[in-house]
Amino acid sequence: MNVKFLLVLVFLTVFCNGENCVKKSFGYSSFVCVCNSTVCDKVTPEWDMKPQQFTVYMSSRDHYRLDNLGGFFNISPGPYPGVNFHVNLSKTYQTIIGFGGAFTDATGINVMSLPKETQENWLKSYFSSEGIQYSIGRIPMASCDFSTYPYSYDITSGDFEMTKFFLQYEDIHYKIPLMTQAMQMLKEDGRNISFFGSPWSAPAWMKTNDDMTGYGTLKGPQGGPYYKAWAEYFVHFIREYQSWGIKMWGVNSKYTKSWQANIEIHKSKRI
Ligand SMILES: *[C@@H]1O[C@H](CO)[C@@H](O)[C@H](O)[C@H]1NC(C)=O
Ligand SMILES: *[C@@H]1O[C@H](CO)[C@@H](O)[C@H](O)[C@H]1NC(C)=O
Ligand SMILES: *[C@@H]1O[C@H](CO)[C@@H](O)[C@H](O)[C@H]1NC(C)=O
Repeated sequence: MNVKFLLVLVFLTVFCNGENCVKKSFGYSSFVCVCNSTVCDKVTPEWDMKPQQFTVYMSSRDHYRLDNLGGFFNISPGPYPGVNFHVNLSKTYQTIIGFGGAFTDATGINVMSLPKETQENWLKSYFSSEGIQYSIGRIPMASCDFSTYPYSYDITSGDFEMTKFFLQYEDIHYKIPLMTQAMQMLKEDGRNISFFGSPWSAPAWMKTNDDMTGYGTLKGPQGGPYYKAWAEYFVHFIREYQSWGIKMWGVNSKYTKSWQANIEIHKSKRI
């Protein structure tokens, strides 16, 4: 415990507004919350605060999981009388678009293997107003390191027009159903979820190492046929998901100049 924390304790009286985690330990240094068909961790809603009171959500390794801790400032007659807290509401800092997680194949495979009621509880825990209200989803474009094997959406070498572009089994059976349910859950609360596509690799035939893994970049010069095909790959991805009723809010790219520069640095370090 450091000195700063001790000082805070002197100022504040803190109490817990209830825990929602049924703790389960697997014998390591921390624990997880049970999520099954009957119980699943939730977030305690904010309590009705009075002047001089505050609320914080806290997680810690050995005790809390987004528990709602309430308290009040009892600064007078404390050891530091006359201490005032000023909050300047017009002074803002970083803008937060939202919080979220990735809809990987591993997520889909594991969640879909659960009983229907457990799936529902799991989704609520992440996306509903009873849970932590995720509002951003990262969608791996084709396989990622949480896939059971490497795959791309177009395996036909030289198909620069992407005429053989197809979403895969994993998109249709794992990602899209969960994304659709998450979307629905937020909609019921009058909120939106923003999805962004994120590639781990271009199809092997587009890359200098002819492999989905390892260090390779797109073949040829920037702006050349492989780069144009890569752009086309994104367009097809967005359109295909749209045809399933899922609109992409954004994408993030790979094989930009700065990304290549990083690879060069990494390579030179390895030598
Ligand atoms: C769910 O977990 C709770 C807490 O561990 C347990 O009491 C309950 O029996 C479990 N329900 C099922 C259906 O396994
Ligand atoms: C509050 O923040 C605004 C914007 O930074 C600043 O202009 C203003 O002077 C601050 N007010 C006080 C009372 O500090
Ligand atoms: C959700 O998205 C729709 C369509 O883009 C928009 O009209 C609406 O204002 C958004 N709602 C919220 C809560 O952001």
